[in-house]
Amino acid sequence: MAAPREQQRVFGEVADAYDDVRPGYPAGILDLIIAYTGRAPRAVVESGAGTGKGTVLLRGLGVPLTCVEPDPAMAALLARRFNGDDLVSVVVGRFEDWSPPPGGVDLLASAQAWHWVDHTRRTRLAAEALRPGGVLAVFGHDFGFADAGLRAEMDAVYLELAPEIADQPGRPVHTRHPGVFHSDELRGSPWFTDVEEQRIVTVVPYDTARYLTLLSTFSPHRMLPEQQRSRLHRALADLVDAHGGVVEQKLTTRLWLARRL
Ligand SMILES: C[S@@+](CC[C@H](N)C(=O)[O-])C[C@H]1O[C@@H](n2cnc3c(N)ncnc32)[C@H](O)[C@@H]1O
Repeated sequence: MAAPREQQRVFGEVADAYDDVRPGYPAGILDLIIAYTGRAPRAVVESGAGTGKGTVLLRGLGVPLTCVEPDPAMAALLARRFNGDDLVSVVVGRFEDWSPPPGGVDLLASAQAWHWVDHTRRTRLAAEALRPGGVLAVFGHDFGFADAGLRAEMDAVYLELAPEIADQPGRPVHTRHPGVFHSDELRGSPWFTDVEEQRIVTVVPYDTARYLTLLSTFSPHRMLPEQQRSRLHRALADLVDAHGGVVEQKLTTRLWLARRL
């Protein structure tokens, strides 16, 4: 019998589309990481590197970068992107199974992927991966909307056609993303100090077709039965078209930083 499809494993089904439409990260995120670390890191590991959208940013540090990525299709695209780059190496596997070098790394980063690492163990695994004084940098986008009216109409469509993935008042977001990340986890940890949270807001326009492709790369959408997903996407496309054919996605890129004691 085929193994059940797992939500954290669906990105590789659409690796090329993911790479095409998912937004990268503002350069300001790297500036904030550099300002926080205080000195240039010598060795960096990235958990859940995907096709390399966060890697491109971290590559700006100009130091050896180990990218841990379990999905073979995502990892293949990542390896292609950095083919011939001596500073970037790709390890195909889960962060939980990766062995840090003796003494630990200076920086452990994760872009839009820390919520996929076993949330009962990830803070301890991060502590084990970092040298004393090393830095954990977790970042990712909240996908909001510049147009509040469009957002409200979209919410209504979700509630009607896919309530299981709709944002509903009072329903904790972790019912959709089992390991969604909160800085409380680091603040309460015996291994980390100096916890900081930063954010950068940008607006990225998507036309209807690209917006649908973007939605098709979100794991809660990928987990919907095919027919239900098509119905939802058709209704959302009609809505976007009725609003001029463009969604202005308001991205709040959040960055959490913490220092290994
Ligand atoms: C939303 S994608 C983010 C990819 C990339 N970092 C980015 O910012 O576009 C999440 C990635 O986490 C990876 N992932 C899932 N489980 C993981 C685990 N246990 N350890 C490391 N990465 C994992 C997925 O394969 C996927 O490539």
